[in-house]
Amino acid sequence: MNDFHINSTKKYNNSYKKSVESPEAFWGELASKNFIWKEKWSKVVDFDFNKAKISWFKNAKLNITVNCLDRHAESDPNKTAIIFEPNNPDEKNKSYTYSELLKEVCKMANVLKKLGVKKGDRVCIYLPMIPELAFSVLACARIGAIHSVVFAGFSSNALATRIDDCESTLIITSDGSFRGDKTLNLKKIVDDALKICKTDQRVLLVKRTNESVNLVEKRDFLLDNLIINIEDTCEAEIMDAEDPLFILYTSGSTGKPKGMVHSCGGYMVYTSYTFKNIFQYEENDIYWCTADIGWITGHSYILYGPLSNGATTIMFEGVPSYPDFSRFWQIVDKYKVNQFYTAPTAIRALAKQGVRFLENNNLSSLKVLGTVGEPINEEAWQWYNIHVGKDKCPIVDTWWQTETGGILISSSPKVVPDKPTWATKPFIGVQPILIDENGNELDKANVVGKLCIKYPWPSIARTIWGNHQRYVDTYFSAFENMYFTGDGAFKDEDGNFRITGRVDDVIIVSGHNLGTAPIEDAINEHDNIAESAIVGFPHEIKGNALYGFVTLKSKSENITKIKNEINSLISKKIGPIAKLDKIQITTGLPKTRSGKIMRRILRKIASNQTENLGDISTLLNPDVVQEIINNYQK
Ligand code: WTA
Repeated sequence: MNDFHINSTKKYNNSYKKSVESPEAFWGELASKNFIWKEKWSKVVDFDFNKAKISWFKNAKLNITVNCLDRHAESDPNKTAIIFEPNNPDEKNKSYTYSELLKEVCKMANVLKKLGVKKGDRVCIYLPMIPELAFSVLACARIGAIHSVVFAGFSSNALATRIDDCESTLIITSDGSFRGDKTLNLKKIVDDALKICKTDQRVLLVKRTNESVNLVEKRDFLLDNLIINIEDTCEAEIMDAEDPLFILYTSGSTGKPKGMVHSCGGYMVYTSYTFKNIFQYEENDIYWCTADIGWITGHSYILYGPLSNGATTIMFEGVPSYPDFSRFWQIVDKYKVNQFYTAPTAIRALAKQGVRFLENNNLSSLKVLGTVGEPINEEAWQWYNIHVGKDKCPIVDTWWQTETGGILISSSPKVVPDKPTWATKPFIGVQPILIDENGNELDKANVVGKLCIKYPWPSIARTIWGNHQRYVDTYFSAFENMYFTGDGAFKDEDGNFRITGRVDDVIIVSGHNLGTAPIEDAINEHDNIAESAIVGFPHEIKGNALYGFVTLKSKSENITKIKNEINSLISKKIGPIAKLDKIQITTGLPKTRSGKIMRRILRKIASNQTENLGDISTLLNPDVVQEIINNYQK
């Protein structure tokens, strides 16, 4: 017995056991029974972790959109697939049934074909959270083009780097985007990016804000013009299970972002199975994930996971604070949301506003609450539980990564009990272990170690676009024969995991992964900056915020001006999400004799914990430490 729906602890235990003891039989049966394949596989899983070679459902043929759209359009055409809630609550919302969504996706797919896009081509999507974003993503999948969605808060430089890295040929964007009471001119950002891009692009423009935009002849095309009289059917391209479905960029510990590549078959099976069971989605439930489709959470748990289950999924264009801090709760009440999935940083920001914003909204439809993106602190967990969930909704604290494609560690209602601040148990098929400093497995309870996974799951990324060696080096070289997550974790005697945070140079600010290296690279472009080091420090709402230590080439009278210039460089090169909260000008940075910056010391200073700095006498420049402590920015 191997049910798709795991609704009891007993079923979870049985399936977990089977998935670990005979993964091929387990996943083979699950995939076979619950999805539409054009051809079956020759082998369920094949892998060599040391070379980072992984394949699932080898030689199988499918199209993910057939599983996400056609089969539901056939069996339940009038069921709502996507509800679009606009930024402005006074604007009329829109919703699309499965049959309508299929037509919209096919129309967009035909537009892409008209623009010359073929199977295997990369399409960069730089759009706000509007229905056309969903249509574009699914249209790419329909015709076998590889989508690379870039979050529409990234700057033109960051966009250009991502366009050039995957050598896309088309970029889909809009005139502008609405966010709260602001509008952002996205087309202008794209125009600026294209000035620095090395690869030629065509631009497909979706109208949203109706502001005037610059249109370049033969390069820029209006969707409104191309979509007239276009057919609303489009045959699904037959894809190999291992063909890339999409690229999604994530920060790394060097300046260049990593284009994580996910493939069609395994990604579909795993996101679908986790969605159903972690959120315990039932027929006719209304599910809402507040993430942006520009991040992995939106890919897996706004689009592919819910749609492959025939679910109703909400897409929200706006922000939690507009028109006021009750917006999330108004939406929950308006659509009678059953599963609500958000980030700890949003919970903390809302908690800070007080409970009065919750008072006039009926939240009784809620059954399951979820969090993702960073560790959730006890206070925020309790607030979420009591004020939003009214102490009756289990909270699924879902741990996963862009690289993992789907949730790997989480509780699940009625199946795996939640535990405040703990991600809890591995999902079916996932084999996490903790590794000590010497690379040995820690099999005792109540210890902290580096979190690794020792067996592949179907939605693990297959490579880094254009740089497989970097994939091997980053994830499979730290420890032999396992995937290293970059996170630390604690495990209790019952086998529950609590994630303690990153153990590398990535800092999670408001749930966004920021590598320190790209920020330092951006700052170092300033004419008067010799060197810089960025570290994280605890922040009440963002979880972590950024503290920059900067040394100048020559003394400056106007420190405020330099600080402003640093943040505008960061905004320009990366985007406003990477701005520094604190900047301290120093005469030097603490370094080892081999010249490595001692970030450990800077981290402690930035967190105002200077009692225990350890032995600093072996540093190249121990004196600078006291100077930095003395000038600590409160
Ligand atoms: C962190 C987001 C604690 C973690 C899906 C991971 C978490 C990184 C949790 C990936 C959680 C994500 N508890 N930490 N529930 N979820 N993280 O790629 O450090 O944007 O490695 O994927 O976020 O972030 P990414």
